[in-house]
Amino acid sequence: MSGHSTYVPKSAFGKWFESRLPIMGLIHSSLLTFPNPRNLNYFWTFGGILAFMLVSQIITGIVLAMHYTPHADMAFNSVEHIMRDVNYGWMLRYLHANGASMFFIAVYIHMFRGFYYGSYKAPREVLWILGVIIFLLMMATAFMGYVLPWGQMSFWGATVITNLFSAIPGVGETIVTFLWGGYAVDNPTLNRFFSLHYLLPFMIAGVVILHIWALHVPGSNNPAGVEKKTEKDTLPFHPYFTVKDALALVVFLMMFVWFAFYIPNFLGHADNYIEANAAVTPAHIVPEWYFLPFYAILRAIPDKLLGVMAMFGSIAIMLFLPWLDTSKVRSGNYRPVFQVFFWLFAINCVILGWLGSKPAQGGYVTASQICTAYYFIYFIVVLPLLGLFERPKPIPVSIADSILGRSGSAAAMASGAAASPNTKG
Ligand code: HEM
Repeated sequence: MSGHSTYVPKSAFGKWFESRLPIMGLIHSSLLTFPNPRNLNYFWTFGGILAFMLVSQIITGIVLAMHYTPHADMAFNSVEHIMRDVNYGWMLRYLHANGASMFFIAVYIHMFRGFYYGSYKAPREVLWILGVIIFLLMMATAFMGYVLPWGQMSFWGATVITNLFSAIPGVGETIVTFLWGGYAVDNPTLNRFFSLHYLLPFMIAGVVILHIWALHVPGSNNPAGVEKKTEKDTLPFHPYFTVKDALALVVFLMMFVWFAFYIPNFLGHADNYIEANAAVTPAHIVPEWYFLPFYAILRAIPDKLLGVMAMFGSIAIMLFLPWLDTSKVRSGNYRPVFQVFFWLFAINCVILGWLGSKPAQGGYVTASQICTAYYFIYFIVVLPLLGLFERPKPIPVSIADSILGRSGSAAAMASGAAASPNTKG
């Protein structure tokens, strides 16, 4: 728990203000004195990196919106105007476009950290579910943002993805017409996507506040997966974690600016430099890289409705992860069999991503089907059964012990770790 704030205002005004709105105390207890597990590794720096990226996307996005025109006849040219005429417009655009990719790199590392260290397990289920909601909102935001430059890939990507809803029996066509604001992707579609693309990041920011609130109730999980018990297990957030987070952020930003300044179009698609044309379909319609695994799942299944259900299901299933993983041991470090399946799952996701970039034909489809099957088997079969049959390695008695190298108590292992306070619940 964050506990009561120990903040004491120095000035008379500070005391007056703090007794009316204790915001300095809140900042003090959450960012300066908050006791964090002392064994956190660099995978725990990505939450901070994500918060930075969200702010960066909002700032660059707001300035871009000052020069962008959300009209089907002018959008494409207004983006070229930003690139050529607006002072540092090229930089803003490249930072925003590559920033979206960096945001997704960070979020995937953040999520796989959670998968591996069991951060979704009790008492952090709500924190995890809020994360999945953020992820969904991020995908919706990125999808609509990509439509705004009104290039060929914007237009055809929007057409393909919105059309998916037509697979819903009965109301499908009505939903698609509603999304489009007409009978095809056109100016009304562009307008509403612009409006929502501007709105959603602020909704994400709202859910992030809840996410961090839910984090501060139990505090962070850690590589050992055992809860903090005594003061020996923790260090104050400042300076230890502020400095560590800052270092990781700087390294991450180096990669970000490398992309934005040296290879700004590496992650984009050349066809999006051709203005949208409803009469010419591009040879291959490919979404941005961060959607590819889900796109592969969609296309793995020949039936449209089932494909759509599998695609949305592959994200929705994450909501149930805290209950699907039945293991009493939280951290993957002490689960040898889990590690094998976890790495297979991670590799499987990368292969799905690659398959999503290939045409949906022949061997690619078969491979997508196998990978899609493993994706779901991991959640529905592997994780529930592993918890029942796997024999975990001894877990450390405390966080301090895990650092000092003393390995776990035989007692914890013998009792299947069930009665130990080191395990979940
Ligand atoms: C805008 C996006 C996001 C932001 C700004 C954000 C922010 C944070 C921050 C600051 C932390 C604490 C530091 C850390 O553990 O890295 C955190 C922890 C966590 N986040 Fe996120 N997050 C985001 C998205 C997500 C998503 C998409 C998920 C999962 C689907 C997720 C799941 C978690 C979990 C489980 C923890 C606790 C980890 C632990 O204590 O081991 N987050 N997040």
